[in-house]
Amino acid sequence: MSKNFDLIVIGAGPGGYIAAIRAAQLGFNVACIDEWQNGQGGPALGGTCTNVGCIPSKALLQSSENYEQAGRHFGEHGIRVGSLKIDVPTMIGRKDAVVKQNNDGILYLFKKNKVSFFHGRGSFVRAVDGGYEVRVAGKDEELLTGRQVVVATGSSPRALPGAPFDEEKILSNTGALAMQAVPRRLGLIGSGVIGLEMGSVWRRLGAEVTVLEALPTFLGAVDAQIANAAKKAFDKQGLKVELGVKVGEVKVGKKGVSVAWTDAKGGAQKLEVDQLIVSIGRVPNTEGLNAEAVGLKLGERGDVIVDDECRTNLPGVWAVGDVVRGPMLAHKAEEEGVAVAERIAGQHGHVDFNLVPWVIYTSPEIAWVGQTEQQLKAAGVAYKAGTFPFSANGRARALGDTTGLVKFLADATTDEILGVHIVGPLASELIAEACVAMAFRASSEDIARICHAHPSLGESMKEAALAVDKRTLNF
Ligand code: FAD
Ligand code: NAI
Repeated sequence: MSKNFDLIVIGAGPGGYIAAIRAAQLGFNVACIDEWQNGQGGPALGGTCTNVGCIPSKALLQSSENYEQAGRHFGEHGIRVGSLKIDVPTMIGRKDAVVKQNNDGILYLFKKNKVSFFHGRGSFVRAVDGGYEVRVAGKDEELLTGRQVVVATGSSPRALPGAPFDEEKILSNTGALAMQAVPRRLGLIGSGVIGLEMGSVWRRLGAEVTVLEALPTFLGAVDAQIANAAKKAFDKQGLKVELGVKVGEVKVGKKGVSVAWTDAKGGAQKLEVDQLIVSIGRVPNTEGLNAEAVGLKLGERGDVIVDDECRTNLPGVWAVGDVVRGPMLAHKAEEEGVAVAERIAGQHGHVDFNLVPWVIYTSPEIAWVGQTEQQLKAAGVAYKAGTFPFSANGRARALGDTTGLVKFLADATTDEILGVHIVGPLASELIAEACVAMAFRASSEDIARICHAHPSLGESMKEAALAVDKRTLNF
């Protein structure tokens, strides 16, 4: 006998667990299946984000930033530190504890919202009258029937051909977040988001870091002015990024990894490192879903094909998050999860894909929302730009972190804000103001007229908005 639910969610990452909670809030009887195991074989809810993504990476970024501050910058404040030592196992232990708090938090939220959780792999069995049968295999062995199904199975790291992850010498994000010692020489393939965040963590802790990137442009999707400012800051820190690289043979030896590569001019090069992190993008998780049993349509990348509203080709089957098109971001997955639950309830769930912010949590942080200057030019949109450097902001000076700038792009005729780009301290927090403003279709004049607390980094947002009209007050 199968257990009946209004909704079965497969996957308890940010897309799945949020969809399950929102659907339960709306009065549905919801099951959520997830197969992630902690070290003891128990459930570890929260998916990639909680276990080997957003949360642990930010924990290590904070620890390593504290170490760098103590080693390089406390002296400027007159704080003398004797001998400084990094205890990596303790740092990793703290990260694990932070992860566990989040795992347990989601389990608590499931109980609070009466979501039935099943620990194991979920796969489609067949379509039945008015729904779908889904098997749970693993710790829990069950047959469930759901009137509706949300696929939220996320993504996994893409390996370099011929260089499979062993998580000892060739690491994915999983291994990169669990290293028990600082390697002397660390190599990274791919200077995308993971490459820069993980490269920063281990560089701050003392590793000699080299990043090999295939594209000739640094952070090509980022506004070029912001990407250039970030590159300058990373160069100064000693984070070595080689652009326009063609990676060749990767050999694992007893002592480390050797990577043959060709530079932009075609010259043969070799990188010898103790460990290599491969961060060249991620692939959607649809293996094991048994999609063919119900005829669920997949794309070439193995992604679940959906429309703008996360509907698949099957009635009553939806898909959200990394397993579908669009940016692989936790907050995008969450927004889709909420919208789908609301659509199932007959409401008008909505996600504005133009207003999904991006943040790279390096130091300086990089954050943006909306259009870049390159995109506006390519689309032939007439725009005005205003920038303000943190070097002219009182709070940034007091913090001792004046790297970077805020940039506003506004429509030349209507002054509506079209994009906001930040590189600098706490860009991750500052960008929220831009998201709110753009969601309300504010003009740069609106931001320029709003009273911002002094002294605050937020004043740089106001000043950059004033700069659109060429009337900054402090620069
Ligand atoms: P996932 O989080 O991948 O969750 C999917 C879940 O489904 C997993 O638990 C998986 O085990 C489970 N599953 C898969 N198949 C099955 C099955 N058949 N049966 C049962 N369970 C199954 N994004 C940000 O927005 N901010 C960040 O700072 C950030 N940092 C990141 C850092 C790193 C190192 C990485 C790797 C990613 C980071 N991301 C970040 C991206 C973010 O983690 C993902 O976009 C997000 O986790 C996607 O959520 P999801 O719910 O779609 O999938
Ligand atoms: P990515 O797509 O951000 O970057 C991959 C990089 O690798 C690209 O610059 C690409 O040109 C390069 N590349 C691809 N193949 C290559 C090759 N053979 N040789 C050399 N370079 C190559 O992917 P990444 O860093 O793996 O992260 C995956 C995703 O996880 C991100 O796109 C993002 O969606 C998410 N993420 C988000 C974070 C955040 O929001 N702060 C943090 C970390 C990850």
